[in-house]
Amino acid sequence: MAIRRPSTKILIDGGDPEETARIRNLLGFLDGQTTNPTLVAKNPEVQERIASGHKLSREEQTQEYKKIVQSISPLVDSAGVSIEVFADFDTTADQMLAQGEQMFTWIPNAYIKYPCIAEGLKAARISIERGMRVNMTLCFSQSQAAAVYAATRGSKEPVYVSPFVGRLDDQGENGMDLVRNIKKMYEEGDGHVHVLAASLRRLDHLSYAFTLGVELATVPGKILEEWAKAGFPLPDQNFQYSAVDAKGNELKPIPYQKLELNSPWESFDLRHELTDKGIRKFVDDYNSTLAA
Ligand code: E4P
Repeated sequence: MAIRRPSTKILIDGGDPEETARIRNLLGFLDGQTTNPTLVAKNPEVQERIASGHKLSREEQTQEYKKIVQSISPLVDSAGVSIEVFADFDTTADQMLAQGEQMFTWIPNAYIKYPCIAEGLKAARISIERGMRVNMTLCFSQSQAAAVYAATRGSKEPVYVSPFVGRLDDQGENGMDLVRNIKKMYEEGDGHVHVLAASLRRLDHLSYAFTLGVELATVPGKILEEWAKAGFPLPDQNFQYSAVDAKGNELKPIPYQKLELNSPWESFDLRHELTDKGIRKFVDDYNSTLAA
C-alpha cells in the first residue's frame, strides 16, 4: 500500500536492527532511528549473551552498541541514527564529548545524544562547533528547550531536541503541551533546532505531533505497526487531541512560558526531576549488562 507520507519525519525508537528492517518494509520508508541505553540493553543479541551467563565488559558494550548502529545506519534515511553517550551525574562535558566524538565516527549519519543538563549542553556546544550533529535528550521543560536553542546557536546542521511526552503523561501532566509550547517558542527563533517528539506511547500522540507540525517523531515499533494496521491515517483539520491518561483521567495542562531565546543558555533553569530520573534509569540499564 502506497502511503501518504507525513511532513513530520518518522523515526523508530528501538535497539534491534531486525525490527528496524521489518518496520521499514512495512512503511516503505523510515527516516531515522533513536537508540538509548535502555533500548540497547534490550537488544536480542545483548540479552542472549547475558542469558548465557556472559555479562559484558565496557569495551564489549561499546562494540555491541557500535555493531547495532552500524547495522541500522543503512536502513534509515536523512534523519539519521541517534546514539546516546553514557552520562551519570559525575560525567563531565569533556568525557561526554570524547564519547560523542568517537561515536560520531561509527556511521556517516550519526546524531549524538547528550542529556539536557549543563554538562550535556557544554558538550553539545563544542560538538556543533566541530561540525557534529546532536540530539538533546531527556527534555522535560520549555526552559531546557530554550537552553538547547541558545547553546547551539550557529550550528550548521539541524540540532534535535527531544521532549519526552509519555513520561510527563505518566505523572499526570499533558506531555503534548510541552511539545506545543516548544514549537510555539521556536517560532521566534531562526529554525536551527528541530523538535523531535519522543517517548510517544499512543497513536494519538503521533497524530497530534503531525498536527503540531513537529519536524520529527520517534515512535516504538508497535505503535508504527498500529499506524500501519489503521491504514497510515493522517489527522485532518477536525482532529482533536484528548489529553487523558490510559484510565481516562484528564492530564494537567502545562502552561506556555514567555522566554527570551537570545539569552545566554546558562541563564535558563535546567532542573527537572524527570531528567534526573531518566539519567538514573539509563545508568541502571547500562550497568545491568556489565560484568561486576
Ligand atoms: C528517544 O530518544 C527516547 O529514548 C525515547 O523516546 C524514550 O521513550 P520512553 O519514555 O518510552 O522510554
